[in-house]
Amino acid sequence: MVSNNQLFHLFLFLCFFQITCLHAQLCTQEQSSALLQFKQQFSFNKSASYLHCDSVGILSYPKMESWKEGSDCCSWDGVECDNNTSQVIGLDLSCSWLNGTIHPNSTIFYYFPHLQSLNLAFNHFGMSPITSEFSRFTRLTHLNLSASVFSGKVPIEVSFLKKLISLDLSGNYDLRLEEPGFELLVQNLTKVRELNLGDVNISSVVSNSLLNLTSLTLLDLSSCGLLGKFPDGVFHLPHLIELHISYNLALTGYFPEFINSSSPLQHLRLISTNFSGELPDSIGNLKSLKTLYAPFCKFYGSIPTSLGNLTELTRLAISYNNFTGMLPSSLSNLGNLVKLGVQYNNFEGKIADFLPNAKSLSYLYVGSNNFSGPFPSLVANLTSLVELDLSNSQLTGPLPSWVFSLPALCYFNLSNNKLTGHVKEFKSTDLIAIDLSNNSLYGRFPSSTFKLVNLTSLILSSNNFSGELDMLCHAVSLRLLVLSSNSFNGSIPQCLGNFSTYFSVLDLRKNNFSGTIPNTFVKGNSFEIINLNGNGFEGTVPKSLVNCKMLRVVDLGCNKFSDKFPFWLEKLRWLQVLILSSNKFHGPMPASKAKFPFLNLRVMDLSDNYFTGPLPKTYFKNFNAMMNVIEANFKLQYIEKSLVGSMYLYAYHYHDCLTMVIKGSTIEMAKVLTIFTVIDLSKNNFEGQIPQIIGKLNSIRGLNLSHNSLTGHIPTSLANLTMLEWLDLSSNKLTGEIPRQLNNLKSLAVFNLSQNQLIGPIPQGNQFDTFLNDSYIGNLALFGPPLSDTCSDPRPPQQEDDTNSSSGFNWYVILPGYGCGLVWGLVMGYLMFSRGKPQWLVRIIEGERNESRKRFKKHAHRNRGR
Ligand SMILES: *[C@@H]1O[C@H](CO)[C@@H](O)[C@H](O)[C@H]1NC(C)=O
Ligand SMILES: *[C@@H]1O[C@H](CO)[C@@H](O)[C@H](O)[C@H]1NC(C)=O
Ligand SMILES: *[C@@H]1O[C@H](CO)[C@@H](O)[C@H](O)[C@H]1NC(C)=O
Ligand SMILES: *[C@@H]1O[C@H](CO)[C@@H](O)[C@H](O)[C@H]1NC(C)=O
Ligand SMILES: *[C@@H]1O[C@H](CO)[C@@H](O)[C@H](O)[C@H]1NC(C)=O
Ligand SMILES: *[C@@H]1O[C@H](CO)[C@@H](O)[C@H](O)[C@H]1NC(C)=O
Ligand SMILES: *[C@@H]1O[C@H](CO)[C@@H](O)[C@H](O)[C@H]1NC(C)=O
Ligand SMILES: *[C@@H]1O[C@H](CO)[C@@H](O)[C@H](O)[C@H]1NC(C)=O
Ligand SMILES: *[C@@H]1O[C@H](CO)[C@@H](O)[C@H](O)[C@H]1NC(C)=O
Ligand SMILES: *[C@@H]1O[C@H](CO)[C@@H](O)[C@H](O)[C@H]1NC(C)=O
Ligand SMILES: *[C@@H]1O[C@H](CO)[C@@H](O)[C@H](O)[C@H]1NC(C)=O
Repeated sequence: MVSNNQLFHLFLFLCFFQITCLHAQLCTQEQSSALLQFKQQFSFNKSASYLHCDSVGILSYPKMESWKEGSDCCSWDGVECDNNTSQVIGLDLSCSWLNGTIHPNSTIFYYFPHLQSLNLAFNHFGMSPITSEFSRFTRLTHLNLSASVFSGKVPIEVSFLKKLISLDLSGNYDLRLEEPGFELLVQNLTKVRELNLGDVNISSVVSNSLLNLTSLTLLDLSSCGLLGKFPDGVFHLPHLIELHISYNLALTGYFPEFINSSSPLQHLRLISTNFSGELPDSIGNLKSLKTLYAPFCKFYGSIPTSLGNLTELTRLAISYNNFTGMLPSSLSNLGNLVKLGVQYNNFEGKIADFLPNAKSLSYLYVGSNNFSGPFPSLVANLTSLVELDLSNSQLTGPLPSWVFSLPALCYFNLSNNKLTGHVKEFKSTDLIAIDLSNNSLYGRFPSSTFKLVNLTSLILSSNNFSGELDMLCHAVSLRLLVLSSNSFNGSIPQCLGNFSTYFSVLDLRKNNFSGTIPNTFVKGNSFEIINLNGNGFEGTVPKSLVNCKMLRVVDLGCNKFSDKFPFWLEKLRWLQVLILSSNKFHGPMPASKAKFPFLNLRVMDLSDNYFTGPLPKTYFKNFNAMMNVIEANFKLQYIEKSLVGSMYLYAYHYHDCLTMVIKGSTIEMAKVLTIFTVIDLSKNNFEGQIPQIIGKLNSIRGLNLSHNSLTGHIPTSLANLTMLEWLDLSSNKLTGEIPRQLNNLKSLAVFNLSQNQLIGPIPQGNQFDTFLNDSYIGNLALFGPPLSDTCSDPRPPQQEDDTNSSSGFNWYVILPGYGCGLVWGLVMGYLMFSRGKPQWLVRIIEGERNESRKRFKKHAHRNRGR
């Protein structure tokens, strides 16, 4: 039994305990109201935190909302007090929806001298500067201002915070550390263990003072614009676990030697730097290494065997370098690998020789090397595979059917190999992208593939697949369907036009499709490219195409369409390419009443149809994209598709492929330069004169009006088309003389006036000295060189066909080297990056697509509860 006395004492004790506790927790009135005043400066909006918190799986909420007058501020969410002094020592307002700015006069700077930890990460401070008043927190050990939309100059006063153990300013737009800021920072913050300046624009060489920061465990200087040689010594800092110096294009260095085996380094990221040289054998001493990311660098040589000693490695990415030789078979020891990326190097040998039997291997990118041999059988064991890229290799033989049973695949790219065999039903329902193009696969393609609800791209071009599109309507997420050069048949299902949100590339070129195109295109659809060239489609061009406001390419060539000219397409303001060649289009071209018909058209090919009447003068007048093009502005732009899916999808890159007939040769143009501007109206029944107005189209490269019934003189205004490389007016009824001014056309490489009724002298000089007889044969009375009878009579017509198209177009040079179809996004990512373009994209694409979540999570949590 417990006596009353004892109970009383217990009671007293509890009271006392209660009181001391309460007392210990009660924050001062001063601090309480200072915090409430601080709260007043903000509004709360989830969008201020969403991107860096909720979207990567961290719950955000307005912590300050629980802050109420009259309650003890030490109990407020995000506020931490000292147990003894009840001074506020920690403030964690990360992911708290804060929207506003922190003025230098803010109360927060004046009432919290004991603050040790301040975390304002993942809010929205509206591009405001970081005020120098932060230096008043002289006891601060942890300061986290990351990804909170601060901008401007980092105040030098931050370097007064000598007690800092952790400083994170990363992920802010447009924040910069001007010289000597970085130097001062590393000189004064001698205690710092975690220094994250990622995305802060430093733009200077890396100070050797960094070597004095011997406590560093984490150093993140990604995307800081660092220049010059990175000090080797940093790699050897005795406690350094994580080193991130990615995305510093001008940062040079070599992979250092690691002579002794005590380095604690676990994570090393050198993505997109100018690091070069070979990987040293001593890399095998980095026994703790878990992550090695070094894609987009300048490394070369062979991979040291010792790399296979790093059995802790989970992520190894060395794509886009210039490595050569065989990958060492020791790599097969790396049983913990989750990610292996070696694509875009010059490796050779067989994949089977190095592939690790790693149960958890999820990301395997080995494509775009010189690997050969059969499809590696070990892949059957890699049941965790989510992304598999074996593209652009020389894999031969049958594609084993178990590949289609890999249960977790999202991304599957075997394009550009020599694989044979059938495709079975895919087992993984998570598939997002499938690319099997350019192989020798055949047979019915399983149409159940269209039922994959997350499938965004399906690329099967250049195989020998057959089958129909009967299940297409199920493909609710499809953005890109490329089936060109196969033997698919059947008709296009009615539902095609109902795809209102995503579907943007439909490429069915060179198949056996037939039937009519459904007239069901709804408003607000996303089609940008519709290429049906070389099928058996018939009927009319569906009027509802006019709802495809985003259309840039329409290629209906080589079909059996029978229709008047679909003039209503003139409203599509982004349309750049219109090809209707080799069909049964007929009737006169209408005179357009639109204000800006075909505003952006660069390629118009109506050849080999039954059009009649005069040439479409009103169009010539309005083809703005063919006039006064300033080439410099277009230098590297191609008519191409570059789509970026959501953060977790894939960036991809589609080259339109157009087929055009140039002087009798059919040319497939992948990558169509936007400066490539052509009008081809040949092989129709156009009549009347060539309008003078055609001289306005001074940016066109090719003009073909041959095989019509055009009459009258050759307009002198043609001399204005100084970019012309190819001009064909042959097989018409043109009369009069050849305008002398045409010798202005200094780019002209192919010129044909044969089979007309022209008379008079052939212009001389410039390009005209290079044309041969064929250019002039079959006219009434042309004379002068190159016609051998310099007096008069032309020779009798020879064979009708134009042969030997001499080269000479300067756009030829862009043709080789690119297949039609698709180049997976990494290239694009790289290109964009090297132009200083969105780095978030590059991060998604290489290396950090799957890591960024973790990285942010880690940041968010690192300073929680301090
Ligand atoms: C929240 O932010 C979003 C995006 O900036 C904005 O559209 C919205 O109006 C804001 N809401 C409030 C209540 O300020
Ligand atoms: C911040 O607040 C302003 C004004 O209330 C609002 O216009 C803006 O959209 C908000 N921004 C965010 C990211 O919440
Ligand atoms: C204060 O006390 C709480 C509960 O007793 C304890 O969890 C916390 O670590 C203490 N904080 C400090 C800074 O000592
Ligand atoms: C702080 O400064 C801002 C802008 O300079 C001003 O609008 C605000 O009233 C000031 N607040 C206090 C508490 O002085
Ligand atoms: C280091 O901090 C002190 C204040 O503690 C300051 O006076 C000094 O200028 C700083 N030095 C550097 C190099 O920033
Ligand atoms: C490293 O610190 C020492 C002692 O503080 C100093 O003398 C030296 O200059 C520093 N080195 C660099 C490279 O800053
Ligand atoms: C790698 O491991 C092998 C055998 O375990 C050993 O002989 C070799 O020295 C190691 N290489 C390095 C660089 O650690
Ligand atoms: C790659 O290395 C080869 C020789 O090993 C060299 O000829 C080539 O220029 C290098 N390519 C790049 C992009 O550095
Ligand atoms: C696949 O795994 C099994 C069991 O783990 C093993 O016996 C087999 O050799 C592996 N296959 C290959 C090709 O390594
Ligand atoms: C499709 O994607 C969504 C969102 O990424 C995911 O939640 C869902 O599980 C996926 N569906 C299938 C069948 O994989
Ligand atoms: C051809 O160019 C000349 C001189 O630049 C210009 O005066 C004339 O209008 C142009 N002709 C046409 C049809 O554009």
